[in-house]
Amino acid sequence: MAGDKTIIVSNRLPVSVKKVRGKLIYTASSGGLATGLGSIPENQRKWIGWPGVVSDVLTDSDKKEITKELKSHGCIPVFLTRRQVKRFYDGYCNETIWPLFHYFPQLTTYRDRYWQAYKQVNEQFAKTVKAQSRGAGAIWVHDYQLMLMPALLRKQMPGVPIGFFLHIPFPSFELFRLLPQRRELLEGLLGADLIGFHTHDYARHYLSCALNLGGYEYNGGVLSVGTRSVHIDVFPIGIDTVRFMETAVSEPTQKSVAELASSLGGRQLILSVDRLDYSKGLPERLDSFDEFLKQHPEMHGKVEMLLLAVPSRTDVRTYKSLRMAVEQSISRINGNYATTDWTPIRYLFRNIPFEELLPLYQHASVAMVTPLRDGMNLVAKEYIASQLTDDPGVLILSETAGASTELHDALLVNPNDRSAVAATLHEALIMPLEERRQRIHHLQSRLKEYTIIDWAKDFMRELDTHTSAATAQHIATITPKVEKEIVSKFQEAATRLLLLDYDGTLSAYASRPEQAKPDAALRRLLKRLSQQRGTEVVIISGRTRKTMDEWFGDLPISLVAEHGACTRAKGKVWHCKPQRETDWKSEVMDLWAPLEQRTPGGFIEQKEYSLVWHYRRVPTALAKLRLQQLMSITGPLAENLDLGIYQGQKMLEIRQHDNSKAVPTEGWLQRKDWQFILAAGDDYTDEDIFRILPDDAYAIKVGTGSTAAHYRTQNSETVLALLKKLAAKPRNST
Ligand code: ADP
Ligand code: G6P
Repeated sequence: MAGDKTIIVSNRLPVSVKKVRGKLIYTASSGGLATGLGSIPENQRKWIGWPGVVSDVLTDSDKKEITKELKSHGCIPVFLTRRQVKRFYDGYCNETIWPLFHYFPQLTTYRDRYWQAYKQVNEQFAKTVKAQSRGAGAIWVHDYQLMLMPALLRKQMPGVPIGFFLHIPFPSFELFRLLPQRRELLEGLLGADLIGFHTHDYARHYLSCALNLGGYEYNGGVLSVGTRSVHIDVFPIGIDTVRFMETAVSEPTQKSVAELASSLGGRQLILSVDRLDYSKGLPERLDSFDEFLKQHPEMHGKVEMLLLAVPSRTDVRTYKSLRMAVEQSISRINGNYATTDWTPIRYLFRNIPFEELLPLYQHASVAMVTPLRDGMNLVAKEYIASQLTDDPGVLILSETAGASTELHDALLVNPNDRSAVAATLHEALIMPLEERRQRIHHLQSRLKEYTIIDWAKDFMRELDTHTSAATAQHIATITPKVEKEIVSKFQEAATRLLLLDYDGTLSAYASRPEQAKPDAALRRLLKRLSQQRGTEVVIISGRTRKTMDEWFGDLPISLVAEHGACTRAKGKVWHCKPQRETDWKSEVMDLWAPLEQRTPGGFIEQKEYSLVWHYRRVPTALAKLRLQQLMSITGPLAENLDLGIYQGQKMLEIRQHDNSKAVPTEGWLQRKDWQFILAAGDDYTDEDIFRILPDDAYAIKVGTGSTAAHYRTQNSETVLALLKKLAAKPRNST
């Protein structure tokens, strides 16, 4: 693990506190996050979270006692008031994010006061983490309750490795976009160095939201965010397989299994274990069981369903009505089919201790794990791990649970297809022994090879690798200290050269190129800079000379257009390279034009020396397809005519190979013995400038991506802030 102890942060601690008749009661928390992460050894982490009780009912001495007791479990409490719990936990977490992310938009409530509380609680958590962070190797934030935290922590502790893991599904863009605060949540996560998801689909959805909502560039598992890289990866959570397997074969479990078998009197046990949550598909599961009983009268009296439901989020309206629906459904089925010596469904609405749960897992002939949506579902894995027996059972698993991407040998079902689920239940109950053994064997191998401990180590190792790689790049961010040094070197120098790219460097990208026109403030700044004594300002751009003239022609600065093809030194006329004789542009246009017409949002710009297809407003997937198509249809022609195809910031450009920003840069470098040189650019074309600068020049890459520059700054705003500082000392001006 990176550095010292890892700080784990989650809303739910592994221990929950209740105050009953003045007494504090401590219990193990339920839910996948607490049971899963609870297996990480206490000496490897410090865990910060909410103890599960509202602080209004606690006295100061209660809080002290809770703090002390939790400390003995390596936990630190964040106390929340009743009002916060109502609006943050019941509200934004469980009435807004939870239903939406589980594909229940009809159950999603949007309330501003919930959102305000969510922000406030995330800030409160961030404060506690900061206070506890001394000596921490890394911070690992968990789940949907704390999606703003990575960005909050990044602001307060820029250098600390931060990981985030989402334990629930990340929905498709079509659902995520419904959320009024979609941008804030998306960007909250981007404070992390590594964001983990259970499945590739969830990661894919997050990326498509990042591209569609934020326009962030994505390449090979890495999102570029300002000067930082955010890694996105898939880590399917496991369970403490060894603990389950060892307990399964232990003597007490075997004894309980024997008792259970005799109490069932030869009936096959169908097990159902969940938190009572609408995402778990309980009413649908009961309906399927009803259908099964209808279809198979011969099975009456031979099977029994045990439905274990843990109370969960009981103050939320939808959970209350779900409980009523489930209980009514059980009564109806039992009423219809029960006999004097057989009740089809037994129901327990409570938490079952591990030692009691294990014999049930082991003895059950079938586990029905049929959620409508589930991030992962640990019950499925726990059942499999507990099947250390010669006569194993069968797992029925929803294809909409994250676990289905790993547990291929389960019987996979669509939980909404009740008759298919009923038929699958019958198939499971009569499955031959050899097939059951084979399936369980394959399923267990997966659980042995990637346990919860492997999962946690894997995540931390990846976090460590990415943060160390970022440090190893040796590219310094322009901090206030570096900025001061640049300003003072600039002031000391008698001859100064500023080589500045335009788009993405002096101006942010706009939807259409003509909209990125310089405003009066930028023109004033360039003028002021050029008036500094001994200062030469050169804008080296890919724009046409016509545009450069229109925007900057009247300023006392030098201009380079079309990536070095045309140059206009201060006060002089343009000098351009000769044009090719062949009319290659019309040949390319013939190939590109039909695709342009079929791609709304994209357009072709015709320059003197190049053709550019701009796709900033084209939906990401379509843009990707068109890029491939344009490259493949233009490739042979480009080769014949010795043209280069280049991919820049949301554009594809075809031009002569020999246009390079290096040519005019070389010219300016040789013109004088410059005592100060600064170059800034964001695009691959600017690398041609960086590569030929002398070592003592300040080469500044704007944004992310590999570079030959030694410094990095975030965006055009931070470039302008630096240039303003250079221009701020008019005492040297002529
Ligand atoms: P979720 O995280 O949505 O609750 P998971 O299946 O991932 O779903 O995790 C549920 C966890 O809660 C499992 O570790 C399971 O053993 C435990 N659990 C579920 N029902 C009960 C119950 N009635 N008693 C005790 N533990 C339970
Ligand atoms: C799911 C969530 C966890 C949550 C758990 C129990 O597993 O991903 O973050 O802790 O359910 O829910 P609760 O609301 O009781 O914490």
